[in-house]
Amino acid sequence: MNIHTIILAAGKGTRMNTNLPKVMQPLGGKTIISHVIDTAQKVSDHITLVAGYKKEVLKQFIGASYPNVSTVDQDEQLGTGHAVKQASHLIAPNQKILILYGDVPLISEATIQALISETTDCCLLSMLPDDPTPYGKVIKDSSGHAIKITEQKDASDEERKIPEVFTGIMTVNGEMLVTALDEINNNNAASEYYLTDLVEILSLKGVKINCIQANPDEVVGANNKQELHQLESILRNMKSEQLLDQGITLMDASRVDLRGEVSAGKDCSIDVNVILEGKITLGENVTIKSNVILCDVTIGDNSVIEAFSHLSSAVVGSNCSIGPYARLREGSEIGNNAKIGNFVETKKTKLGEGAKANHLAYLGDADIGDNANIGAGTITCNYDGTNKHKTTVGENSFIGTNSSLVAPVNIGKGAYVGAGSVITKDVPDESLAVARGKQVIKEDWAKNKK
Ligand code: UD1
Ligand code: CA
Repeated sequence: MNIHTIILAAGKGTRMNTNLPKVMQPLGGKTIISHVIDTAQKVSDHITLVAGYKKEVLKQFIGASYPNVSTVDQDEQLGTGHAVKQASHLIAPNQKILILYGDVPLISEATIQALISETTDCCLLSMLPDDPTPYGKVIKDSSGHAIKITEQKDASDEERKIPEVFTGIMTVNGEMLVTALDEINNNNAASEYYLTDLVEILSLKGVKINCIQANPDEVVGANNKQELHQLESILRNMKSEQLLDQGITLMDASRVDLRGEVSAGKDCSIDVNVILEGKITLGENVTIKSNVILCDVTIGDNSVIEAFSHLSSAVVGSNCSIGPYARLREGSEIGNNAKIGNFVETKKTKLGEGAKANHLAYLGDADIGDNANIGAGTITCNYDGTNKHKTTVGENSFIGTNSSLVAPVNIGKGAYVGAGSVITKDVPDESLAVARGKQVIKEDWAKNKK
């Protein structure tokens, strides 16, 4: 089946109080329209977006982020029927057309699939919201098929009592849609070309129109900042449910922000105020403590990320302990059984198996061997003001506290660096390097000063 999705996004969104097109507002770490397109892409062969208000900004974003999405202009917003009509020339008769709204971002792939899999020529996504007032009412015949949608403004008192309303989302046979669009007029209370008039037009032609009911949470629109805030919390709950469904223990499902994709082994747990971005892969029995930010990271079995740590584009092995207050930046690779303690920053650095940097260190452009011990206050001086240089520390070596390793420099295997050293020359295997001012004792100095 050839699915062509038309996304309506020309509306002005006055109540959002923004200079951006309303569908460009952020929601859950991306734009509102990205949610719609990302879901549509999973089910569509082709996508067309109708742009109008601030269309240049919107079209520039779509062109840059979604080159496969076609756009058409609706310069005057004369109604949803008029909006779809702008895409008529792109509709092929053999296509099934899926109508989505650019400002209804949380519609799920499963719901769309259910709608698409209905074999009727037209299928509506309806709902039973707590307050049906603002929506188009679905009027059905005795066999339960929809025969008309009446907008609130045009509805009779009797019709206004109907609890089942239209979400705006539907599928319709491409050929029938193109013909019907020509028959829609604007003789109604809003003087708009209502797409919803399609239902009566097709029904009178004998088309049986089914309804599928949506979970109202999925079809909350983003019309103002209140609704946007509500969407953030619905989205957060949906995402938390995904984590719970994967078997991850959450200390408080309302205080985890999943903004990317997580895959996890058994027995992982996540404490409060954790933000998960990008692609996160957790092994088994991984513990993420509170206030941790993870972005594009892989963490091995039994590792613990202690509170207030920030990991980005990093790989952590098994049985590691990271943090609290650790910062692993891009290109950090922490070997199995290694330990990174508080106020340690790593970047483009490999820490070997069982190696330790327990306190207050900066390790950049470094390769630290297995079981090496990096003392508190160790700094790899990797930047000379123009270029970055590499530091290597051999396995089993010991870097005393408060040492500066001026790169490029190699510390051999099993070597020692005395505390407080500024190391500028390579240190051979098994040797001790001390590079600091010698201690001087002046006996009775203080007494004589008096
Ligand atoms: C529409 C439906 C109503 C349904 C409700 C669900 C019609 C006539 N009514 O009403 O039955 O219950 O959605 O939310 O369709 N848009 C354009 N161009 C236009 C007008 C709208 O692109 O000329 C876009 C808007 O940007 C928005 C969407 O279409 O994304 C819906 O438009 P809106 O004016 O909010 O429709 P409603 O009056 O809410
Ligand atoms: Ca609306």
